[in-house]
Amino acid sequence: SSMHELNKISELEAKLKEVLNIDEVIITNGGSETDMDRKELGFQAAKALQGILQNGSVLAVSGGSTMATMAEALPAKKCQATIIPARGGIGERVEYQANVIASVIADKIGSTYKMLHLPDGLSQEALNILMTMEPQIKEVIELSHQTDILVFGIGEALHMAEQRHITDAQRTILRTKRAVGEALGYYCDVGGNIVYTTNNVGIALTDIANIPHVIAVAGGASKAKAIIGVMRACGKGTLIIDESAAESMAALL
Ligand code: G3H
Repeated sequence: SSMHELNKISELEAKLKEVLNIDEVIITNGGSETDMDRKELGFQAAKALQGILQNGSVLAVSGGSTMATMAEALPAKKCQATIIPARGGIGERVEYQANVIASVIADKIGSTYKMLHLPDGLSQEALNILMTMEPQIKEVIELSHQTDILVFGIGEALHMAEQRHITDAQRTILRTKRAVGEALGYYCDVGGNIVYTTNNVGIALTDIANIPHVIAVAGGASKAKAIIGVMRACGKGTLIIDESAAESMAALL
């Protein structure tokens, strides 16, 4: 890119960081329309993650295709870390489930992983029983309290909800409350208010204040509102987005 374009990108990074009140914004080249662009976003996310991962780290990851691309892009550099899924849930295509992404990352860098085997849509009562009685679930919950790095993807609220087969009642709530974005099972409006949450265990969007390193990754102009809402709810962290998302966000802010 020319000098002028580079300046334009760093100005946009600074503007978004300030308006969203977060720690850092990294804008990658391109959009999310081509495989090459999506790979570039995954590559930059992998690079940011690799910069903070160290022996003894507990890393929590969300599901989604963006996280899958990041996992793929991670260099196979050995690291004795523990990788956990940020949340339970199996609603997505298997290769995009947080459990699977945690295992792919762990295999790649020679780390240990733990899985959360939980179906979606459990009642709070059922979850409470599993959380207290199931040793494997208890272990992941304990690790989630020790998490020092969290990396997650951001989705459009209604798109994510449909993918998880929501009920008509849930759809009505999301529409009435103007949910635009989703991360970790938390649905947010564009002002960063959490308007709906799925029953689940693991890391809550509201726990993020206690996690030292938080990285959110998302691409595509269609996610602009979703990213704004989720990052306002998050209130900290490094946001890695592509140019298309960044430009659309700037036009809304
Ligand atoms: O919760 C957010 C989604 O997992 C994002 O998924 O990266 O496939 O758009 P995606």
